[in-house]
Amino acid sequence: MATLKTSILGIEFENPFLLASAPPTASIESIDKAFEMGWGGAVLKTITPDDLEMFEASPRYATIKENGKVICLQNIELLSHETIQYWVEGIKYLKKKHPTKVIIASIMAPVERKKWQNIVKKLNETPIDAYELNFSCPHGMPERNIGMAIGTNTDISILITSWVKSVATKPVFVKLTPNVTDITWIAKAIENAEADGFAAINTVQSFLGIDLDTLEPVLNIDGHSTYGGLSGEAVKPIGFRCVAQLRQNSDLPILGMGGISNWQDAAQYIALGSDAVQICTEVMINGYGIINGLKSGLLNYLESKGFDSISDLKNIAIPKITSHEKLNKKSHLYPSIDKEKCVSCGKCVKICSESEYHALNLDKNCVNLNKESCAGCSLCSHICPKEAIKMCC
Ligand SMILES: Cc1cc2nc3c(=O)[nH]c(=O)nc-3n(C[C@H](O)[C@H](O)[C@H](O)COP(=O)(O)O)c2cc1C
Repeated sequence: MATLKTSILGIEFENPFLLASAPPTASIESIDKAFEMGWGGAVLKTITPDDLEMFEASPRYATIKENGKVICLQNIELLSHETIQYWVEGIKYLKKKHPTKVIIASIMAPVERKKWQNIVKKLNETPIDAYELNFSCPHGMPERNIGMAIGTNTDISILITSWVKSVATKPVFVKLTPNVTDITWIAKAIENAEADGFAAINTVQSFLGIDLDTLEPVLNIDGHSTYGGLSGEAVKPIGFRCVAQLRQNSDLPILGMGGISNWQDAAQYIALGSDAVQICTEVMINGYGIINGLKSGLLNYLESKGFDSISDLKNIAIPKITSHEKLNKKSHLYPSIDKEKCVSCGKCVKICSESEYHALNLDKNCVNLNKESCAGCSLCSHICPKEAIKMCC
């Protein structure tokens, strides 16, 4: 029998699914409900000094949908509106009621030692399991020199990590931004400052678009807008890439996230090096109840593979990721056309000839391949509207 139980830095998780720091963790009441419903833990909505003002804009969300399904969410939400004392009491309440659940405090403050340490010292007095330093919020905060402004500056990231580490009585994760040229250099600096682990990714800085009728921004706050943070399914490949790069360069625990909407996404994050995963947008779209499918799906998968726990899955894909230079250039696949499915629409022929090669032609309603001209790029297999093309040896 496989188990979803796991342990990270001595913290016991009943399952690897955590709510990410976001609206689903903005109140004790909601977290209480999520724990009842089976979540393994929660990262609290980012806690800040009480004197840091949080004036929200309305509206603060915009989405891109495909066939009615939200593909991505852009938000310009700020941080927790609650006081530090609210969280101190709330953590005590939650831990007493749910002793087996993991609670991680996300924190952020201006670049002043006392402000960071003050929050940590107060939370040290609670049964909190770990800290997550939010060096990565891409909107609102960077213009106040915090959030992503910290996580894109190595020196300041090192400084704050050291300040927190010098007083924290629990492990310290640092939540990284994908909005950097290379996530590994900032991670290395933070590791040298003795962070205990990473959380990645926070949202991807974005601008959702312009309404061509009104010529105003899609996320329209009284005629104006600002850059926001993109999350949900569309950012998953960026999250995968960041987590894999972190794992290739560090052995520290990673809380992976970005676009997880089902157990398959979570399993891939684990295979790419995550020790546990966090989820926000999918919960905002479909509610806490998704936890049942996540848990049963992952457990069944582990069993079907003969794995005892997620430790057997963790990192398994990392050796498969290498540099372009090391890829086997002698391997060459060719399109194989399923004549039953092909409707001779000619799209593959057109695209092949307009995107570099001239390897396909339509002759008597039949798509034919000229192997000599085919580079094996696979574009035809992706654009075929009938999925009639497969790449084969
Ligand atoms: C509305 C909203 C609010 C968020 N607030 C926070 C926050 O307070 N602190 C934080 O570290 N991340 C925050 N995030 C980022 C999420 O925790 C997460 O890193 C990101 O959304 C990617 O995961 P997802 O694709 O599962 O949503 C927020 C995200 C959203 C959509």
